[in-house]
Amino acid sequence: LSRVLRRRQRLSHLSSLEDALGLLKNSKKIIVLSGAGISTSCGIPDFRSSTGLYAQLQEEGKYDLDDPQQMFDIHYFRERPEVFYSFAKQIYPSNFVPSPCHRWIKLLEDKGKLLRNYTQNIDTLESLAGVEKVLQCHGSFKTASCLRCKTRVPGQNIETFIMSQQIPYCPKCREEADRRQQMKKELKTGKGKGKALWDDDEEEEENEWGGGEPGIMKPNITFFGQALDSEFDECLFKDREEVDLLVIIGTSLKVAPVSEVLTHIPHSVPQIYINLTPVHHVKPDICLLGDADSIVTYLSSKLGWTIPAPAAIPLP
Ligand code: APR
Repeated sequence: LSRVLRRRQRLSHLSSLEDALGLLKNSKKIIVLSGAGISTSCGIPDFRSSTGLYAQLQEEGKYDLDDPQQMFDIHYFRERPEVFYSFAKQIYPSNFVPSPCHRWIKLLEDKGKLLRNYTQNIDTLESLAGVEKVLQCHGSFKTASCLRCKTRVPGQNIETFIMSQQIPYCPKCREEADRRQQMKKELKTGKGKGKALWDDDEEEEENEWGGGEPGIMKPNITFFGQALDSEFDECLFKDREEVDLLVIIGTSLKVAPVSEVLTHIPHSVPQIYINLTPVHHVKPDICLLGDADSIVTYLSSKLGWTIPAPAAIPLP
């Protein structure tokens, strides 16, 4: 508590827009921690606002969910993959255009001020805006993996399944299932290579394989109940030694471990929170409440920075 109090005394003078401008001007190693609030102006709902995805799922009631968050729960997905695949096309990144916030993060990078953008979003709009030092803490649709044999494929391989609301099964598992089927058939008839190829290891593997359905492919977005990729800890461990300003934009900071970034960086590092609604469970040094796009645009104008225009909208 005394450490926190000491920090509060040191930073208690920080409170306003002026301080935020001074910090942005002088900082060289800025971590931007972003959430769904920086993509709402692109037409992608956030999660917990009254108009967010969870409210929509609750209202619609058309999916068999006890709680809207179940849509992104790994245990529920294993039991009922068809529920997620009947919905996934609604959140699949398509022709969205990066917001002024995404482009502001790119501006920080172009000015050599961005240490890293830790984004919770899976829409990949940071990359579309040209941001290179972005870590997708909750993954993205860029790749997909088999829950059974862990085979990883490019996300496009399951795009048609997502768009047609079908469950994608693992091609590798299917191939293996067919191979084993064929060998067992040959074993029975005593014909073909089956006998020679089916040695004790195969017998053992058969028990592990357990036959049955091939594995289900799941996009590599982090579901509740799944650990984040180890890259998150590795980056944070490194960045915490260099960061000189933390800017948190468009997130309710409700989901760990990303929400705990604030406690993992030294208390001497100032924190600016830019969000439509206030946050109560943490105490950033400076809170700028309002529309994030408008706030970053205002800050940039006061600093004489120009937020890059949106690149040409990608052709469908
Ligand atoms: N400007 C500023 N803030 C905004 C705007 C806007 N235009 N639109 C929404 N917000 C704010 C909301 O007030 C809210 O506080 O953005 C925040 C978004 O919070 P959440 O909906 O909880 O989204 P996020 O914090 O990104 O969720 C984190 O939860 O369900 C999981 O994996 C999911 O990555 C997600 C994680």
